[in-house]
Amino acid sequence: MATEIRSKLLKMFTEAQGGFLSGQKISEELGCSRTAVWKHIEELRNAGYELEAIRRKGYRITKIPNRISSNEISLGLKTEALGRRIHFEESVTSTQKIAHQLAYDGALEGTLIVAEEQTAGRGRLNRAWHSPMYTGVWMSLILRPNLPPAKAPQLTLLTAVAIAQAIEEVTSLRTDIKWPNDILINKKKTVGILTEMQAEADKINSVIIGMGINVNQELEHFPEELHSIATSLAIELGKPINRAELIQMILLKFENLYHSYLEHGFYPIKLLWESYAISIGKKIIARTITGTLEGTAKGITEDGVLMLEDDKGHISYIHSADIEI
Ligand code: BTN
Repeated sequence: MATEIRSKLLKMFTEAQGGFLSGQKISEELGCSRTAVWKHIEELRNAGYELEAIRRKGYRITKIPNRISSNEISLGLKTEALGRRIHFEESVTSTQKIAHQLAYDGALEGTLIVAEEQTAGRGRLNRAWHSPMYTGVWMSLILRPNLPPAKAPQLTLLTAVAIAQAIEEVTSLRTDIKWPNDILINKKKTVGILTEMQAEADKINSVIIGMGINVNQELEHFPEELHSIATSLAIELGKPINRAELIQMILLKFENLYHSYLEHGFYPIKLLWESYAISIGKKIIARTITGTLEGTAKGITEDGVLMLEDDKGHISYIHSADIEI
């Protein structure tokens, strides 16, 4: 269906405030035949709308789909640059993969890749990221900061703060951040962040920030092995969330923090990150690729590296690991 026809039709239904619209009225206002009206109604159904049809009364919408589209994200978006260009697809292998290609082809800073489903979503350490249709937020953001590659991990921590702030704003749920990039609610993983970059020796070309947010899944949407360790915002809140609104809020929080970061450096972000951090001051186990370390998490360095103190007072600097609290 042409987007203008759909918009017009949806506007008419909105104005009818849940009441019926006769086929006659729709055909007059859209300037099309009754058969064409029927076709447009079927197309709305295919797009996830539920409509009741009663003879002599007409049609009324009984359920609006909770789907995302470029339009829904753009309408009401309050950012200057982030998300102003959206590449949206129903189903992709991985938004990271598309983002890398677009970045390589010269996509501008702020370009956002969003999909309703990922068939090969990727997590850290080459793990799979479960990304079922119409339930979560699966997106990748392209940034082009003028920074040395060593600073890129700071952007992961900035992203975690932006998402934590946005979740709190939209749902009032309290979130915790587990170093470096997991957002937990009631100790269960709700968000994962994957930061990757295209860089030369001393200069970042692009940073691709992948964000996976479990939003409207019910427990049965998760594979059995994740039941005890993962959750969604809807499970924690007890009702579904408007995903387009959440995306808009993440982009807005992100842009504010990103501007602050580029202007004032990492320190203000570090303070915010620490206010959400769940592991600082606690005994943790860090599994790195070279081995397992145990100790107390002392905090993060100016570069976002985790400081772990063992029982002899020796500090290890952890750049990448899986943390067990
Ligand atoms: C993790 O915690 O391991 C990171 C998970 C990151 C998942 C997101 S979903 C959108 C983007 N596309 C991917 O394939 N991965 C990231």
